[in-house]
Amino acid sequence: MRDIVPAPPAVVCNQVQTIQELFRKNVVPTYARFDVALQRGEGSHVWDVNGKRYLDLGGGIAVCALGHANPEITQALVEQSRQLVHASNLYYHEPQGRLAQALARLIGPGKIFFCNSGAEANEGLFKLARRFGDEEGRFEILTAQNSFHGRTLAGIAATGQAKVKKGFGPMVAGFRQIPFNDLEAARKALSPATAAILVEGVQGEGGVLPAEPEYLLGLRRLCDEKKLLLLMDGVQCGHFRTGRFESFQRILEEKPEAAAAGFLPDGITMAKSLGGGFPMGAFWVREPYADLLDAGSHGTTFGGSPLACAVALKILEVIERDHLADNARKTGAWFKGELQRLAAKYPAVIQQVRGLGLMIGMELAAKIPAFSAGEKSPSVQFINRLHAAGALAVPSGTQIVRILPALNLRTEEAAEGVGIIESVVAKLSP
Ligand SMILES: Cc1ncc(COP(=O)(O)O)c(C=O)c1O
Repeated sequence: MRDIVPAPPAVVCNQVQTIQELFRKNVVPTYARFDVALQRGEGSHVWDVNGKRYLDLGGGIAVCALGHANPEITQALVEQSRQLVHASNLYYHEPQGRLAQALARLIGPGKIFFCNSGAEANEGLFKLARRFGDEEGRFEILTAQNSFHGRTLAGIAATGQAKVKKGFGPMVAGFRQIPFNDLEAARKALSPATAAILVEGVQGEGGVLPAEPEYLLGLRRLCDEKKLLLLMDGVQCGHFRTGRFESFQRILEEKPEAAAAGFLPDGITMAKSLGGGFPMGAFWVREPYADLLDAGSHGTTFGGSPLACAVALKILEVIERDHLADNARKTGAWFKGELQRLAAKYPAVIQQVRGLGLMIGMELAAKIPAFSAGEKSPSVQFINRLHAAGALAVPSGTQIVRILPALNLRTEEAAEGVGIIESVVAKLSP
């Protein structure tokens, strides 16, 4: 065995540079990583290999719903792994059935397909749309400019950002982008081949931009009128992040007519917080279309394993028991309010703050004199300073800093985060 898989070189000196060297030599360099090597976490804090502590306001890009090293997740993992880790989808097992029931209850009448990532979940919806339109020869899916739907070939074709497509042509056929939050543009873009429209409830990678309630309601009417599927990507903005399970539920709260009409999309994808760090994805499909993908038409070896489902069930249980949807709503509103206060105090540094619940985007001013005009974007330069001050956050494009912390972020941790951000902003203010 040793001949086939040589032991990795021992990390003798557990320093950032040593680990970076391992990456430089052995890991495909698809990520421009920050100069931080993390070692452990607890709740909303993480420590790097040098023992420096950070408040994690990025949550592993909206993944760590219950923070780091959550003891209840550990217990669920240990207990389930003593019983059955993996079974394949050739057989039935209780955790997958129970999780599907719980998720459908949170969305609406329909069924769930389980997979392993957000991109894979979206691939499932693309296939659903093609199946739906197949008999009439319709296959096209309209998606939004600035959207993000994953890094697979169809995912990049669906994504409304040129940078993810560059160098990977020709694109998978059947995707076209339309301006976001523009109903008229959607109507005008329809062709006889259109089968579905796919949007994020809150664009994440596109800069934390929520869909307008009228836009979602209008898309629903348009899709009903033209016999199209209305699909939503809830990978980043779902799972209670906005204060409700799915972002459309939160966005449409102030529209009683939406509730009265029972607004639902026809399909919605999930991943990220669903497994809280255990890689998982899923899509929900509304009742009338729930059996369109029949036996043999779609699948994945690992999807919905007993282990993954036990973790996801535990996360749902804790979120409900500890009222974490309310926490996301209240702590998020407070955090956003504080950042808006900073924007008013330091307009030369923060241009705008937007978002819902614990999905907040802080847009930096166009020109911050302290930033060098080098190859690093303003959002990356800002986050480098946040690291130095003791917090992690996630860049979105060149100008936006995203706050996507654990749903159980405490009030005092939110205050710590605002304090760290203010210390950075104050130093950047001319
Ligand atoms: C809205 C959205 N969809 C899809 C994806 C892709 O998910 P994954 O990276 O799990 O494939 C992401 C990832 O950031 C996302 O934000």
